[in-house]
Amino acid sequence: MKKLIAACALLTPVLSCAQDSPDLGKQVYMTLCVACHQPTGLGLPPVFPPLSKTEYVSGSAERFAAIILKGIIGPITVNGQLYTNVMPPQEAMLTDEKIAAVVTFVRSNFGNLSSAVTPEVVAAARKKFLDRKTSWTEAELKAWPEDSVAGK
Ligand code: HEC
Repeated sequence: MKKLIAACALLTPVLSCAQDSPDLGKQVYMTLCVACHQPTGLGLPPVFPPLSKTEYVSGSAERFAAIILKGIIGPITVNGQLYTNVMPPQEAMLTDEKIAAVVTFVRSNFGNLSSAVTPEVVAAARKKFLDRKTSWTEAELKAWPEDSVAGK
């Protein structure tokens, strides 16, 4: 973590660092996600999957936001391991800003190097799936368009 902060400080004048609001994202992670996905982001296989270099973390930003909003109902295979659990929906608990922050935090920690996600992307996903009452299935998540970004 120290190394990451140093790298960020070093890169900030050149690039906009992916961690715009690291404190908010980390805070949400440590409050809501940590019990299942663990402080390391490695989860607790075969009950809770890792958030380290998985296709769902580094793939479509819209899909990641949609996962937080609606949750998942297993079975789902993550990095070759089968999970038959449920991830609860968090849409009632989290603002668009908090979801964007936690998604950005996960995408730039635990060995991940994916781009930041804005609250606008989350707001568009929330609107698009407003009437949806059930959690996502693996088939739906697998069929998600690769670079689908809501509102674009
Ligand atoms: C109560 C436990 C629980 C909480 C809290 C939880 N998750 Fe999950 N999450 C799961 C489970 C279990 C799965 C696998 C789905 C299944 O088995 O149905 C999953 C799957 C995922 C996936 C897709 C698979 C992967 O590992 O890439 C992502 C991404 C994810 N969670 C992110 C988060 C984030 C970010 C938070 C906090 C905002 C969070 N989860 C909170 C239990 C949880």
